[in-house]
Amino acid sequence: MNYKSTFPDVRIFPTPSAVAEAVAEELMEALKSAAAKNRPLHIALSGGSTPKLLFDVLAERTGGDAHIWDFARLYWGDERCVPPDDSDSNYRMTREHLFDQVNIVPENIFRVLGEADPQEEALRYGQVLTEQLPKATNGFPRFDWIFLGMGGDGHTASLFPNTEPVKENKAVCVVAEHPDSGQKRVSLTLPVLNAAVRVTFLVTGASKTEKIDEIFNERDAYQQYPAAMVQPDDGRLEWMLDEAAGAPIGWK
Ligand code: 6PG
Repeated sequence: MNYKSTFPDVRIFPTPSAVAEAVAEELMEALKSAAAKNRPLHIALSGGSTPKLLFDVLAERTGGDAHIWDFARLYWGDERCVPPDDSDSNYRMTREHLFDQVNIVPENIFRVLGEADPQEEALRYGQVLTEQLPKATNGFPRFDWIFLGMGGDGHTASLFPNTEPVKENKAVCVVAEHPDSGQKRVSLTLPVLNAAVRVTFLVTGASKTEKIDEIFNERDAYQQYPAAMVQPDDGRLEWMLDEAAGAPIGWK
């Protein structure tokens, strides 16, 4: 039995654009469904570069719709501890690629205050999530949808392999440190990632192939990779890959 057979929801698309188009379509459906049910859709966004394409497609597809985002409540899976106008800020990237092009009221965007003291912000953001989201059976805030990326080292959010934040199982948010740059981050903890209704990994590009191979074919030390530790207790896990990243899975 390998990882793939445990979590069969793996979809491989020819290009990163095709991944972005497919995910955008499903997200738009979810937004419309939330509006029809008159209930908020709590979404945690990922950072880094991969989501830019998704946000550009969403901006292009929903920019003219005055209300499609009305029931969305947007959060982050992690944020760099930098001001919101810093080139490293996940919030700034999302604002430039999405928020500036669509109609989302500021009250529905729950930014991690990257400019604040990291420990204080990890506490504050954890409290915001506890207040805003329903509670999962594991007692942690339950997102409707969490988008995640995966680093070339197998990290996800800002949970880096073989670091203390990966073990955090009491707090909602934790302060992490990038192993190379030392940059501080505020990250959701694993129990929150595993409390979600739906978790979608967006992973594209040849730089991720090696780790996809290790995880999906259970090679080497795949179990130390935080990306492989995301296994929702009572939720849907899916990997949306392009052919470059997904080659080792041999799926077309
Ligand atoms: C971050 C992300 C991080 C990212 C991966 C992949 O803040 O950097 O949340 O977990 O998803 O590092 O990054 P790329 O999409 O840039 O490859």
